[in-house]
Formats: sequence, C-alpha cells, structure tokens
Amino acid sequence: MRILGIETSCDETAAAVVEDGVAILSSVVASQLETHGRYGGVVPELASREHLRAIVPVTREALSRARTTLADLSAIAVTAGPGLVGSLLVGLTYAKALSFATGVPLIGVNHIEGHIHAVVLECARDGRPVEYPALALVVSGGHTHLFEVREGFSYRLLGKTRDDAAGEAFDKVGKLLGFGYPGGPVIDRLAPYGNPRAVRFTLARMKGNALDFSFSGLKTAVLRWVESHDLAAEIGTRRDVLRAAPHPSLEQWLAVTPQTTRDLLASFQRTVIEELLRRAAASAESIGARTLIVSGGVACNSGLRAAARDARLPCPALFPSPGLSTDNAAMIAAAAFPRLARKQFDDLTLPARANLALA
Ligand code: KG4
Ligand code: ZN
Repeated sequence: MRILGIETSCDETAAAVVEDGVAILSSVVASQLETHGRYGGVVPELASREHLRAIVPVTREALSRARTTLADLSAIAVTAGPGLVGSLLVGLTYAKALSFATGVPLIGVNHIEGHIHAVVLECARDGRPVEYPALALVVSGGHTHLFEVREGFSYRLLGKTRDDAAGEAFDKVGKLLGFGYPGGPVIDRLAPYGNPRAVRFTLARMKGNALDFSFSGLKTAVLRWVESHDLAAEIGTRRDVLRAAPHPSLEQWLAVTPQTTRDLLASFQRTVIEELLRRAAASAESIGARTLIVSGGVACNSGLRAAARDARLPCPALFPSPGLSTDNAAMIAAAAFPRLARKQFDDLTLPARANLALA
C-alpha cells in the first residue's frame, strides 16, 4: 500500500512515496534556505510563495522517482499542523485537490507525530521495531516536547518548552554571533573546536512541571557574555564572509572564529544538550520507557548524538538518519500508515491549524 506524503509546514516543500509504512520509494525536499537565509529567519509570506512555486514539481518528482501514478496510491497524507498557517495551507489545499480529483482518501497528519514516525519507520525497516512504551524527545526549530508514546500510537505530553524551542535557541545564538541562519548546523560543526566547560551557564530550574524546558535564560546569558566581550569586529567579519559566500566551509568559519568564541559555542551547545538529556532521562525513568526516540532537526546534532550514547539513560536512544531528522514528507506518509490500516480518513473540511496539539 503506497502513501503519498506532502509536507509544507515551515520552510521545506517536501513530497514522498512510502510503501507499507516502511519502504521509502522516494523522498524529495526543496529547501528554502537560500530565500530565508539573508533575512536571518523564516519569512512567512516568502515561505508560502515558495511553497506555491515548488509544490507541483516536487510532488511530480516524488511520484516519478517512485515510479508511481496517482492511481496506485492508497492514501494522500498531508501535514495539517502545527506550523505556519500560510505554509500549511499550500500543502493541505493541494492534497485536498488531488484527493478530490482522484478519489484517493486524505489523511491529515500532525507534524510532530511525523517526526516521531521517522524513527518508527527506520526501526521497522531495519527489523528492530521500537519497543513501547517509548519516550519521544522532539527537538526542532519550532518544538521541544517530551511525549510518552504507547503501543498503537497514543500520546501523552510530559513536558515542553515554555519559551524558545531548542533549535530556535541555536538559531538565535548563531544569528547573534554573525553565523547566519540556521545556526544549528554551524554551531554543531564548530563546537568540537571549543572547550565545552569554558563558560559555565546555569541550568534552568522549572517551577511547576520539572519536565518543562526553558531556553530564553540561556539565550540571554549568551547575549550578556557577547556584550561583555567586545565581539563587534569579529561578528562584522563573519557577516562579510557570509555575504561573500552563502555557504562558508568549516575552514572559512574557523579562520574568523577566535578561540574564546569557539569556547562559547561549545559551552552553549553542551548546556542545551544537558538540558535535553537530563529531562529525557527523568521522563524515560518515570514512564518505564523501553526506547528513547529523539527526532526533529536538532536530532542531527552530533554532540547530542554522542552525549546520548554516553549518558546513563534508562533505555536505548534511537535517532533517525540525518535526512529524516529535518523536515521531510516520508515521515508524514509513515505516520499516516496506521491510520490507513484503520481506515481513519479525513474529509475536505480538514483545517490547517497553526497550533495543532498532538496530546
Ligand atoms: O525539524 P526542522 O527541519 O524544522 C522544524 O520543524 O522546525 O528543524 C530545523 C531546526 C533549526 O532550528 C536548525 O537550526 C536545527 O533544526 N538544526 C540543528 C542541526 N541541524 C538542524 N541544530 C543543532 N545541530 C544541528 N546539526
Ligand atoms: Zn519539523
């Protein structure tokens, strides 16, 4: 049974064909980084316009690479939220039109559930299915959430960020220091060149739910550190480097990043990782989790992956391969598969919801 997945919740236009919930026959992602990079973040109006441009060719490409026609499909899965509403609407409207024209059933998917299914898909494909109950840590530019995942895919929210998402903190620190957007991948590459213990940031203490996160204090602490270290000249140099070449190499970045700043980046990244794993370990313990699923763009972070291997976690931590960690449509098609089996379809009234909750 083949499902066409469509994802346009933020700044990637993506389409994929997945067979039986496990075999990725195609996965096409058109990134808008070039468009948003120069503004230091996603510009919603531009994102919608780019999605409009890309949605038809990206979907055609996904079908053609999978050697699949619309008539071969058992369902069309589409992200219905959470995300930017103008972006969501493009994918959703297109998916509805395809479903209406072909009679293929429509399945609306929660983007966060998609991220969780990136791991479910790869584990099932590799013959080592996820064991439940699982704890899912979803960390991206828009989300930092902890969910209990039970057999049959029911979810319970255990904790979430009260302010910035982890990826957002990476992006804001990257922008502040002149590394452009998105900051996460650059900080990841530079962090191994710094001393992660050089700057001591205090860890966030949460009143109320101890499993909630907060990254705004850390972001402010980085800002204060920058203000007290007179970095204007080096930040200006990095902005010039970015203007001259939109994708500087690691060597280019290292050449314009003195040791003190490398230390700051390493210390910032270590603190984010500690915040994430500390709460993931505590929640996994509290629900007796048999697997820890880590997914979303920040799951690409090599420091996080290494720390999760070394940390004394109560259960094994599973990450998706990098291509399935950031936004893609294969995860959306995979998340729809259990719903197809139960014939749980949506109709053409399915709305796009910016704040759609998973649990
Ligand atoms: O899942 P995603 O593609 O989109 C959202 O749903 O938000 O995640 C994008 C986020 C950005 O904030 C980006 O900086 C972050 O993931 N990211 C990383 C890395 N790669 C992407 N953060 C840290 N280290 C990375 N290697
Ligand atoms: Zn995402």
